[in-house]
Amino acid sequence: MENETNYILAIESSCDDTSAAILRNTTVLSNVVASQKIHEQYGGVVPELASRAHQQNIVPVVDQALAKANIDKKQLSAIAFTRGPGLMGSLLVGTSFAKSLALGLGLPLIEVNHMQAHILAHFIQDTNMSPPKFPFLALTISGGHTQILKVSDYFKMEVLGQSLDDAVGEAFDKSAKVLGLPYPGGPLVDQYAQKGNPRAFEFPIPKVKDLNFSFSGLKTSILYFVQRKTKENPDFISENLVDICASIQYTIVTILMQKLKKSVKQTGINTIAIGGGVSANSGIRKALVNAEKDLGWTVHIPKFEYCTDNAAMIGIVGYLKFKKELFAEQNVTASARYSF
Ligand code: KG4
Ligand code: ZN
Repeated sequence: MENETNYILAIESSCDDTSAAILRNTTVLSNVVASQKIHEQYGGVVPELASRAHQQNIVPVVDQALAKANIDKKQLSAIAFTRGPGLMGSLLVGTSFAKSLALGLGLPLIEVNHMQAHILAHFIQDTNMSPPKFPFLALTISGGHTQILKVSDYFKMEVLGQSLDDAVGEAFDKSAKVLGLPYPGGPLVDQYAQKGNPRAFEFPIPKVKDLNFSFSGLKTSILYFVQRKTKENPDFISENLVDICASIQYTIVTILMQKLKKSVKQTGINTIAIGGGVSANSGIRKALVNAEKDLGWTVHIPKFEYCTDNAAMIGIVGYLKFKKELFAEQNVTASARYSF
């Protein structure tokens, strides 16, 4: 099977992006993402609306992925889909669609863990990326997760630490909401932060045991800080937006880097691969590039389109499982709290 050409159709629908991709072995031929704008007006993802939008998007998105790759569905070797973790109503759409299509086309079905996919996205063949060497540490930072893992092989991963409450993406989004910024506020905080002074305001670094994280206290301290300052000056936010954003980002990046340094010390592994939507953040990217220079780490940062939710990362896991013939049965079900 090693030298064969295999085409994998991958489907991702765990949260608010409907995505389909076609991979030829480890190469991405297409990666179509339909993001749902509907949630912006609610300041967060509304699960019921997300599953409805997936229902509308899934057929056109899969059609587009096939068309862009110039592949007929008869050429497919297998269908991979996100089984979890994620929102149940959203996962059900992709899962049911993948199961039906695999049954209809008589193809093997491959179930994929979304968080594992964020990590294995590094193994997509791309001129701008080189895969990390095992063992490495993975930092997965998204709107739903904050984890540090030791990755010994493709499917041998051990969680060393994780958030005990909010995910780091939520910390960005909730802080942005306090500042009156629209959802999702993470990328906006990043944009403003690049123009501000990171030392302008000081927010507390939480004391959390081992390699775990906590972000809920940070959000509360930002809320109280902003309330107190706006009482003194109603224009405080607008007059200081870039400095507030820079200070928030600085605090979050400091928290992440402190734990990463601790995990490098603890494991003796200094190859780091990041994944998840927050990997797009300029502050964390800069801090990691500096760690390469100053601490001798080897850092792997995925291409932007493979950082946020996408089906290409589901496809690479699909391909790796296809080679090992790790197929799912037709009675496989979506799993909102799927862990590995
Ligand atoms: O991985 P992802 O697309 O979806 C989840 O699985 O959660 O991550 C989305 C999260 C959101 O919280 C978003 O605000 C955050 O990633 N995000 C950022 C940036 N770009 C996306 N946070 C900070 N800075 C960014 N540049
Ligand atoms: Zn994700």
